[in-house]
Amino acid sequence: MNFDIAADRRNTNSIKWNREAIENISANPAAEPFWVADMDFLPEPHVHEAARVLAGLGIYGYPSFPKDASAVAAWLRTKHGWILPQEKIHYAQGLLHALSLSVNLFTEKGAKLLIPSPMYRPFRTIPERNGREIIEHDLGYADGLFYLDRERFASDAASADMIIFCSPQNPSGIVFSEDDLEFVLRTAKERGIPVLSDEIHSDLVHPGAKHLPMGLVNEHVGAECITLFAPSKTFNIAGEHCGFAVFSDPDMEEAFVKAESALWLDEPGLSIGELAYAAYAKGTEYNKALCRYLGETADAMRKYLAASCPGMKLVNGQASFVTFIDCSEYYQKIETEVLAHPDRYSGGEGGGALSRFFGVTAGVAMNDGTWFGSQWKDFVRFNYGTSRDRVMKALERMVRAVKSL
Ligand SMILES: Cc1ncc(COP(=O)(O)O)c(C=O)c1O
Repeated sequence: MNFDIAADRRNTNSIKWNREAIENISANPAAEPFWVADMDFLPEPHVHEAARVLAGLGIYGYPSFPKDASAVAAWLRTKHGWILPQEKIHYAQGLLHALSLSVNLFTEKGAKLLIPSPMYRPFRTIPERNGREIIEHDLGYADGLFYLDRERFASDAASADMIIFCSPQNPSGIVFSEDDLEFVLRTAKERGIPVLSDEIHSDLVHPGAKHLPMGLVNEHVGAECITLFAPSKTFNIAGEHCGFAVFSDPDMEEAFVKAESALWLDEPGLSIGELAYAAYAKGTEYNKALCRYLGETADAMRKYLAASCPGMKLVNGQASFVTFIDCSEYYQKIETEVLAHPDRYSGGEGGGALSRFFGVTAGVAMNDGTWFGSQWKDFVRFNYGTSRDRVMKALERMVRAVKSL
């Protein structure tokens, strides 16, 4: 498990390394990618072994799933202290599928969904495609620190029919306190609306911080709570689209299970099952080492920017491998530069001023803050799930780029 070695993903079918997609957001097909939220590390060894065994056998017929979820239940217990019978853990073909189905089952058309922002873009797309409205709740932000502004949250929740929460939060990486989670649950309970908590990033919390599953906190609150989690970020198997759902309310649980069965979507495919279950059963050591590595990289990034370019700030995230970088001090200059040279920055129509500027001038492809809501144009989201050496070199190029203005 040497995370200093990043896999060479060029010329694979990775979307993150796809040159056309990179050009679309960064105006430079040759820019190095630090965007889509998967990691460049070599895979967890047991997962890779399970894939090798599968390929070696060469048997791709119908598997004997459903498998039992005991490895998943054991993972929740040891990693997060959440003790659940395995029957309460329901497989779903990806976390976003579970989210979309829940929105459809537990709200009516025209319903209003309260969603904290900056917002992972599918949180906007899914309600829109399903005829729901969004109440976009801006997280509090000041000088590098994102936080839950409880008073505003409660007031925005006053007209909501459901809360969609992301914990830890993508793109800020913040890990919410137990008090914050309890506040969200109590707000929902008072209004009699469900909370759905997307916890896909929860297994990659850095040393020093602690994630609490919403469903666990809810055990002493008693709101209607759906907790979703997945092995995809944890073990870098996002292409498998595997997720799990836990319901506090038995009627909601039954409705979800029935709908999955009616849609014929309640059993994992062959490779999803093999890789995900191998990972949960054997991936503990890899996970511990990865959390340490990611925490150290975030510290190194924060220190480097504070010392060499305080005008660019890494925000207060303590989880996963994506972070917002606040570039507000340079935004005006960057926008002026991009508008003054349309030829130089053409081809990056899928991005904004910052992602084009850094794509062309620093050779670093990132999602612009506008991807997460137009009000976040001063930020870029940087994916540091790769070797530290690549991360630090990219940051050096970004600092040089802003200083050249
Ligand atoms: C917060 C969040 N939810 C969901 C997903 C995607 O989930 P899945 O691929 O399981 O549908 C991502 C991927 O980046 C994510 O960041």
